[in-house]
Amino acid sequence: MEPLSWDHELLSLGDAELDEQHRHFIRLLNDLHESVQGSRGDITNIVQRLIDYAEEHFALEERRMREVGFPEYRSHKSLHDSCLRELRRYQMRVEREEGVASELLFFLRTWLLNHLMQVDQQLVPYLRAAGPRIHSSQ
Ligand SMILES: [Fe+2]
Ligand SMILES: [Fe+2]
Repeated sequence: MEPLSWDHELLSLGDAELDEQHRHFIRLLNDLHESVQGSRGDITNIVQRLIDYAEEHFALEERRMREVGFPEYRSHKSLHDSCLRELRRYQMRVEREEGVASELLFFLRTWLLNHLMQVDQQLVPYLRAAGPRIHSSQ
């Protein structure tokens, strides 16, 4: 499994803050990737950081969706909520079962790639229409 990397053309939402958060999310996923190949104690810590960061990122993104009047807010938020539920389920299992961390890595990598490319991209026209506060970082 390859580590994910940021692809500005493919992934940018044209919003510097959200883009930076997505980059950070990818970095944490890659930390998990490295950790899966290393010690187990480390994994517990990274899973907690991933959950904390997912909560923080989803909250910001949901606030921006409300600010720009994104019409699919509820269905988008429910995807965030179910991702968090899934992460918490994995977190409980990581403590006591072998091999769960690589299962979690596969789940989150697939989820994040799909979500960034298919779901978060739907925000682009609404963020763009919202005006001058929105600008892209390279
Ligand atoms: Fe999202
Ligand atoms: Fe996002």
